[in-house]
Amino acid sequence: MSEPQTAILAPLPALGRYLSFSARPQGELRAALRALAELADGERLVVGLGESLVRALGRNVPGLHSFASAVGPGLELPATPAALWCWLRGDDRGDLVHLTRKVQAAVDGALALDQVIEAFRHGGGRDLSGYEDGTENPTGDAAMEAAFVAGQGKGLDGASLVAVQQWLHDFGRFDAMSPREQDQTIGRRRSDNVELDDAPASAHVKRTAQESFEPEAFMLRRSMPWSEGVRSGLMFVAFGKSFDAFEVQLQRMIGAEDGITDALFRFTRPITGAYFWCPPLRDGRLDLRALGL
Ligand code: HEM
Repeated sequence: MSEPQTAILAPLPALGRYLSFSARPQGELRAALRALAELADGERLVVGLGESLVRALGRNVPGLHSFASAVGPGLELPATPAALWCWLRGDDRGDLVHLTRKVQAAVDGALALDQVIEAFRHGGGRDLSGYEDGTENPTGDAAMEAAFVAGQGKGLDGASLVAVQQWLHDFGRFDAMSPREQDQTIGRRRSDNVELDDAPASAHVKRTAQESFEPEAFMLRRSMPWSEGVRSGLMFVAFGKSFDAFEVQLQRMIGAEDGITDALFRFTRPITGAYFWCPPLRDGRLDLRALGL
């Protein structure tokens, strides 16, 4: 029986590591994916395939397309597609180093590792700005319904479509705001996470309120803070049964509906953007039947 990659539903790990790969010319992609399928248990390693990789196999997955770059007033949202995305999870950094080597060895010759980003849990599930992240995530059956494909058949059901954006925070700008301005930027009070009644229309939670869309735009966010040298921010990761919820929210964030841009952009901006298909698991391994594997 097919089931989702389990970790998508699990709480955030203490440590994460994100790997992005591009396809090498003439690589043995089928062999690489078969080897990767053995490693991907859905718990320590969540795997997503980009449109270019699926197409290189001569296949097409319903709902999978590439993230399109977008602009808003003074805002740029880059598209940085990749063939393969891996989310490594654990509580020991050395284990993640070794798991990275195993993934690389599995896909060696077919896929090249282009980027490694280290991530971590902070303050029990907060963004580095100090705000709790994930509060309004659906849970239980609602999470299943929001995040996973159903009713499409074998090899497709239990899959999830993930939107990934690396956001770079500018703490100089964040620190220059008063605590009240910071709360109004998010639309919640940092001290107790209570939603503000008087939040402006630009507040992040006003822009993205999931019930306010028609149809409602629920998704499962599993973002983690990241840092590299002195740069840091949030690796925004949202799983959905399609990319629709993410896309309508992002459009509203950049002011496409009413000209009001999300106040988040006052201190942070995305520097990457990509979409992937996370296949289901079958007997504890990646189920790649949809790709003919
Ligand atoms: C640096 C980037 C971001 C930060 C720091 C951030 C932070 C937050 C925080 C603190 C909350 C309130 C607590 C919660 O319900 O989780 C929140 C809510 C939310 N965010 Fe973000 N977020 C970011 C980017 C995004 C993006 C790109 C999207 C979608 C395109 C998004 C969608 C949502 C949604 C759907 C909610 C819940 C809204 C509701 O139904 O109340 N966020 N975010």
